Amino acid sequence: MAERQTVPERMDEADVIDLLLAQHALIRDLFDEVEQAPVERRAEAFGRLVRLLAVHETAEEEVVHPYARRKLDGGSAVVDDRLAEENEAKQLLQHMDQAGADDPDFMANLLRLRTAVEAHARSEERYEFPKLRAHTSDAERRGMAAAVKAAEAMAPTHPHPGTESAARNVLMGTPVAIMDRARDAIRRAKGEPTTG
Ligand SMILES: [Fe+2]
Ligand SMILES: [Fe+2]
Repeated sequence: MAERQTVPERMDEADVIDLLLAQHALIRDLFDEVEQAPVERRAEAFGRLVRLLAVHETAEEEVVHPYARRKLDGGSAVVDDRLAEENEAKQLLQHMDQAGADDPDFMANLLRLRTAVEAHARSEERYEFPKLRAHTSDAERRGMAAAVKAAEAMAPTHPHPGTESAARNVLMGTPVAIMDRARDAIRRAKGEPTTG
């Protein structure tokens, strides 16, 4: 059977909304992968989920939500609701990352995380993305997609050679470290000052 691996940095969607929708589908697939992984592969699959979620949510926070807040009618309220959902999921993600994939509560927490993340994604797809698509030009959406891809490229899926055995390195750092790297990459791509 072919190895099932999600590779977000090779996505070719040029429109930011298409790109984010494709990432939502990928996130759902990756939850399936973690749920179905044999115990010895669980940490590795979860590491890829952590990375994808960290990069995806950071990209939305840096690129898409600020635009929605400025440009959409009632955009501030929509974005505040989305940020509250993202923060809740992020806290659980950080807890799970620290507790590790062999934590006895891992599968129960995974289900909680999945429920929260999927409800959040549906809210974005329902209340934010359609308005954003209607109120932006093709060029603006292409520009935003480029910034999201910059974040993906700075936080690669694969560990450095020679460190594959260490779970920490498969994870490529904590969720917070991945989010910081993604944020810096996006700000560099947009020509804005970085934090580091
Ligand atoms: Fe989000
Ligand atoms: Fe999203």
